[in-house]
Amino acid sequence: MAAVDDFPALVPHHFLTPPPLQDELTTQTSEAQQKTLEECLPLLRAAGDPTRSPFDFNEFGLPELRKEDHIDFLHENLSVFPAPYVGLDASRPWLVYWGLMALYFLGEDVMPMRERVMSTFYPLQNRSGGFGGGHGHDSHLATTYGALLSIALAGGESAYRMIDRRAMWHWLGRLKQADGAFQISEGGEKDTRGAYCALIVISLLSLPIELPPDSPARDAGLKTFNDRLGTYISRCQTYEGGISGTPGNEAHGAYVFCALGCLCLLGPPDKTLRRYLDLDALIYWMSSRQYAPEGGLAGRTNKLVDGCYSHWLGNCWPLVQAALSGSSSNDGHGVNPGAGDLYSSEGLARYIICCCQATPGGLRDKPSKRPDSYHTCYTLSGLSTTKHFHYYQASDEISQFDSAFSWRVAEKRTSHSESNPAAFDDGTDVKPMHPVFAIPHHSVEGLRQWSGQQPW
Ligand code: FPP
Ligand code: ZN
Repeated sequence: MAAVDDFPALVPHHFLTPPPLQDELTTQTSEAQQKTLEECLPLLRAAGDPTRSPFDFNEFGLPELRKEDHIDFLHENLSVFPAPYVGLDASRPWLVYWGLMALYFLGEDVMPMRERVMSTFYPLQNRSGGFGGGHGHDSHLATTYGALLSIALAGGESAYRMIDRRAMWHWLGRLKQADGAFQISEGGEKDTRGAYCALIVISLLSLPIELPPDSPARDAGLKTFNDRLGTYISRCQTYEGGISGTPGNEAHGAYVFCALGCLCLLGPPDKTLRRYLDLDALIYWMSSRQYAPEGGLAGRTNKLVDGCYSHWLGNCWPLVQAALSGSSSNDGHGVNPGAGDLYSSEGLARYIICCCQATPGGLRDKPSKRPDSYHTCYTLSGLSTTKHFHYYQASDEISQFDSAFSWRVAEKRTSHSESNPAAFDDGTDVKPMHPVFAIPHHSVEGLRQWSGQQPW
């Protein structure tokens, strides 16, 4: 194996060598971690011995992001699946969302797919409100979220018009619970995931914030969709500092994203995150999810890095960082895209580019896994976030969700100095997304503007 001296000078040592401290106790968990280390390290070190790799490396020891291969992979995944994939039938809206969003990150125009998107979703919308995952399926908040975001991505009035906003409002009213949470489907489980999906739907469709008269939550004294939700999320923060799906459960990165998304919809993050969470404990927990040398993120304590947490956890960082800096320092003039991150964005970019790219195309959880459109979308989402600076503008909260609609994005500026002659640049060009809605800014604005003009 190449000596550390053989690497480009711009690759930090801690991305090239095993961790200095290793637990001497061998368990299933430590063995799985060792195996992951062994599959990642050669890819992180490939620039040290270019003769063993088919790829060219830049001065930072990174191969290129093979955009064209990933685009081909995504188009294949948006076509007809062979029979053995029947299990994916309940996830039609998700497959469309992941495919379109990943193509967008790579610079493709997805609007020409509008007709296909509409014909996919017409049969999935139920008269009682919401979208199911497949033909004849009950409505579900996760698939409704996937469908709505896909419709927003496809854009245009003809696509927006297919949504029955009034039926959606009544259905969401039936999902709202007395403790502030939302069921994911009628009679289904309730968790932070359901709450995040519900608030995204309510805000993008400009639905009335008041609960419908037939909502059972009214019997418990609730009046709006937002009532008691902040308190419910507080109850989901665990002794570790992370956030779980339901009170008393284990903290998990995907639920942290859902919870922070909710709080950023409920109000400006510097107010809501501070009001409902122990922010220091959360930052401690989030920081502990990034490993070296892998650079990637794990979803929970003692688990393995996985590319999809580049989205679930990677996208929590801009929300937490905004909560710390507040809107006053981010008013578009005083904005500081060169301010450092609280996590290693370089480490995350290294993991995604070196370890998650599959051949011939698509991105994956880790080197031993196969690529799929879920991991392709969410690794690219994380990569996008490492490259962009997200901030929100001060607003007087004239109407509900104002602060969520005031997020802006700038290219990150990395500082060049004598001690840092070549600031890290992974060489990729990945489009930015809205950090709360997880679609492009123009898609958020298009749907919000249209829905705001519709009669109720
Ligand atoms: C796997 O857990 C779980 C995930 C990879 C994330 C699941 C995603 C959510 C709960 C969020 C859904 C969000 C919306 C908006 C509907 P695991 O136990 O298999 O993996 P682990 O070992 O990494 O914890
Ligand atoms: Zn994953």
